[in-house]
Amino acid sequence: MIQRITRAAVLLALLLPARLAAQQKMVVQVGVGHDTISRYIYGHFSEHLGRLIYDGFWTRSGTGQWHLRDDVIDALKNVKVPILRWPGGCFADYYHWRDGIGPADKRRQMVNSSWGGVVEDNSFGTHEYFELVKRLGTEPFVVGNVGSGSPQEMADWWEYMNQPGPSSLAKERAANGHPEPFNVRFFGVGNESWGCGGGMTPEFYADNYKRYSTYVRANGDVRPFFIATGPNAADTAWTARFLQALGPRRGFGPSNLGLDFHYYTRTTNFRPPVTAGAPPAAPGQPAQRAAPSGPQLSRSATNFGEAEWFASLRNAQRIDDLIRQHSAIMDRYDPMKRIWLVVGEWGIWHEVEPGTNPGFLYQQNTIRDAVIAGVHLNIFNSHADRVKMANLAQTVNVLQALVLTEGDKMLLTPTYWVFEMYKGHQGAVLLPLTIDAGTASFGADTIQAVSASASMKDGKILVTLVNMDPNQGRKISTELQGAKVKTVSGRVLTASTMQAHNTFDQPNLVRPVSFMGARLSGGTLSLELPPMSVVALELQ
Ligand code: AHR
Repeated sequence: MIQRITRAAVLLALLLPARLAAQQKMVVQVGVGHDTISRYIYGHFSEHLGRLIYDGFWTRSGTGQWHLRDDVIDALKNVKVPILRWPGGCFADYYHWRDGIGPADKRRQMVNSSWGGVVEDNSFGTHEYFELVKRLGTEPFVVGNVGSGSPQEMADWWEYMNQPGPSSLAKERAANGHPEPFNVRFFGVGNESWGCGGGMTPEFYADNYKRYSTYVRANGDVRPFFIATGPNAADTAWTARFLQALGPRRGFGPSNLGLDFHYYTRTTNFRPPVTAGAPPAAPGQPAQRAAPSGPQLSRSATNFGEAEWFASLRNAQRIDDLIRQHSAIMDRYDPMKRIWLVVGEWGIWHEVEPGTNPGFLYQQNTIRDAVIAGVHLNIFNSHADRVKMANLAQTVNVLQALVLTEGDKMLLTPTYWVFEMYKGHQGAVLLPLTIDAGTASFGADTIQAVSASASMKDGKILVTLVNMDPNQGRKISTELQGAKVKTVSGRVLTASTMQAHNTFDQPNLVRPVSFMGARLSGGTLSLELPPMSVVALELQ
């Protein structure tokens, strides 16, 4: 018997350290916050792609009438969507706004050649988008067509949306049921103009940006805030050359220009950085990197192992460095930081679910996706001085979605819960924070183990932490400098397997529960984060 107990104790002693690493340290400086976290960092993106608009937001009733989905809207209201980018994406440079106004049965039928080759009946157009915006209580962000449209077409759309009257376009809007202007402020001048938006060089795009935006003028009380095509991933050449070519027109006044930077996380092998002496990047092209090395990785959203976990987390963390690189270039041209860095598209891009249209980009969403979302949002917060907007791709049924639907059924993904847990950061003051919680490794991949962010609003402190280590918990001792905190409460999102996700049969498998791993004593906050977890703490 004694022998059996001893053996059990030894086994426990061997197992415990494997699950919980040594105590680490975090310091939060309360009361010295400087930058406000723009609420727009918690924004979303909705393109005419796959089953996002049609089925996701816009569905047919039994009588064949299209209408907005109440269940999806109610779920999204709960995360407080601050901004919704529309209609694309690649679709935006192919979209002609007149196709989507007027009587639904007279609207042009087209084939969505950007996504899936399916019929787009344009039943969801400008008025339906603004109805959705209103129902969600969000702000609009409309992307105009530079790739296949004209400056006149863009100027007319802007006028149609914003002119209070009495122009013909304002009257047409009224005749279509909306006498009041829609008052759009954020306006994208094309999308990915280096790629699907026209394959332009930064200089050619800068000329087009100037030409198109010149005719998008203040209407009524609304001055446009332009969002220009920004760089793709590590393409710092685009940032520098576009800002150089923009010349003195750069920023028309305080805060009216954003650069739309896109970065998707992929589950790819380690790629060593550019080696010294490598040929310079071709115009508008990212710098050359060595070919990826290592085993073939699965790009499935749910069928993956530790190699894929680490590869995708390593690639997700890379966005921190990319933001630093683009920001450093922006600082050269805009030292006052008036131009916003907008992360207009981000998230993890998996292989589509088996049996679905490859052009619909429908993917499942596990605890890994939640961890990736938490890391991104902590990183965006930490760059609050330059990153003023971000839009996760894409809200419903596409890429890293918050909501998945199947017929009348709907489920909330683990990523949804991260946005719900982080919503208190919107518009809060960022608190300086340092953390050293070590690293986690698998083969050649080493990642930072814990990411954290803290902010303060209305006398409450919100601390969000992500433990990216899928195997080990982390003990963290937190010093809260400059604050007398009396209470702590929190929630945790975690799972017992890396592949855990919600299904239409089991929609609540991954959802937050009360966090029991926080203790306050003598001004120190002790935390025990489980492996692969996202934690949100409220301190008062
Ligand atoms: O989000 C899917 C696509 O990815 C968008 O349409 C495009 O802008 C990007 O390449």
